[in-house]
Amino acid sequence: MWEDFRWGAATAAYQVEGAAREDGRGPSIWDTFAHTPGKVLGGDTGDVAADHYHRWQEDVALMAALGLQSYRLSVSWSRVQSGGRGPLNPAGVAFYRRLLDELVAHDIAPVVTLYHWDLPQELEDAGGWPNRETAYAFAEYARLMARELGDRVALWTTLNEPWCSAFLGYASGVHAPGRTEPAAALAAAHHLNLAHGLATQAIRAELGEHTPVSAALNVHVTHPADPESAADLEAVAQINAVGNHVFLGPMLDGSYPTRLLRDTAHVTDWSFVEPGDLTTARQRMDVLGVNYYSTQLVRRYGGDGPAPRADGHGASSASPWVGADTVEFLPVAPPHTAMGWNVAPEALEELLLALDNAYPDQPLLVTENGAAYEDVVAPDGRIHDQARVAYYRDHIAAVLRAREAGVDVRGYTAWSLMDNFEWGYGYSKRFGIVRVDYETLERTPKDSALWYREVIRTGRLPGVEEAAALPVLGAGDAHAAQSSDR
Ligand code: NOJ
Repeated sequence: MWEDFRWGAATAAYQVEGAAREDGRGPSIWDTFAHTPGKVLGGDTGDVAADHYHRWQEDVALMAALGLQSYRLSVSWSRVQSGGRGPLNPAGVAFYRRLLDELVAHDIAPVVTLYHWDLPQELEDAGGWPNRETAYAFAEYARLMARELGDRVALWTTLNEPWCSAFLGYASGVHAPGRTEPAAALAAAHHLNLAHGLATQAIRAELGEHTPVSAALNVHVTHPADPESAADLEAVAQINAVGNHVFLGPMLDGSYPTRLLRDTAHVTDWSFVEPGDLTTARQRMDVLGVNYYSTQLVRRYGGDGPAPRADGHGASSASPWVGADTVEFLPVAPPHTAMGWNVAPEALEELLLALDNAYPDQPLLVTENGAAYEDVVAPDGRIHDQARVAYYRDHIAAVLRAREAGVDVRGYTAWSLMDNFEWGYGYSKRFGIVRVDYETLERTPKDSALWYREVIRTGRLPGVEEAAALPVLGAGDAHAAQSSDR
């Protein structure tokens, strides 16, 4: 594990790779979901995405030119093991070997996420995450990846945002596989916790006890509508339980919060938790990955019918907040990004301090942070994405303040390296610091990328107004970015 602070950027397999049916890749739940009419905006799919599967060399060159010190990618499970069980697909494994080699050759530390939401469809057909067997299949896949790729990986991340996998996938259904079964969502959450623990054990059994492993959680920052109201504070506590401690608890404390079990007792008896599971779920985490974008505002709802829910988690009549039917999510004050998410950099500092307070010996890593905005290509071809630059500037400043306050934050990872398939929103939302032209698949670093490069190069945060004047990547960078001969 690295001890110092690293600047990185992230992507995920289904969002950037494309090549959905190439070289033996099997379908995942996101292929099925995206190909189901009405599930993804505009009928977009990840079939081609940013075509990273074919352009990985150019993309690594770009990362090198930007000076990235780490790159967080995910492995598509169904690319390396088409049905999620059984023999590996050599062509799929070879793709990740090449990519990791190229990163290492450019001195970019690979952070490899094993599961970024793309369950092999065959495993969903067998029950998906609500089925305990999925956790065992995941552990075996993790072991195989450790064996095949282990010498090239700087840090493993078992799961990305398991909250989304469990609750958007199985409760509100806005994500694949699109089920709306609250009890199944809680079972899924538990099996994801179990999968994390089993996979961590499997990786370390293969590569040694010292092997750095993490999980990346979208820890929600939830504020009360009225900080003086006991009922609103109680609503916050309820959301913290089903939104955060449902994973933090098992993974870091080895237990579920009592209030979560109580709040959801009418939904499930939790009998899917077997003896020993919580010990398994709790494994040393070298860093806790924190994905942060915005905050939420809640109060206890006293009205009739379902509580209004402006929670930024997509539109569905089914709530992802299992057992929290009387919590209302209020719209949060502007400014907002193109996702409609409020911009609140100070809450990132608050979050890092709170995590440090709760888990003082746990190093943290910002594994995602960034913003979607409506980008405009200027006549000179540049993308002057001032709002994104401001977002990064303010959020990075918040991270640096937390570090100054003594929080052990080991790095910052921009989401995303490039525009990509934004799940239910398809290609309509652009999070990249590099623009992808979806007609030509050409990449163009936006001002935010050039600005980020300055941050990495100089260690200071240039002003937002300076970004437009920063030089585009030039000949010198091309040299630095020259790909290896492998
Ligand atoms: C979280 C997810 O991990 C990532 O896949 C997604 O694109 C970003 N947040 C933005 O929504």
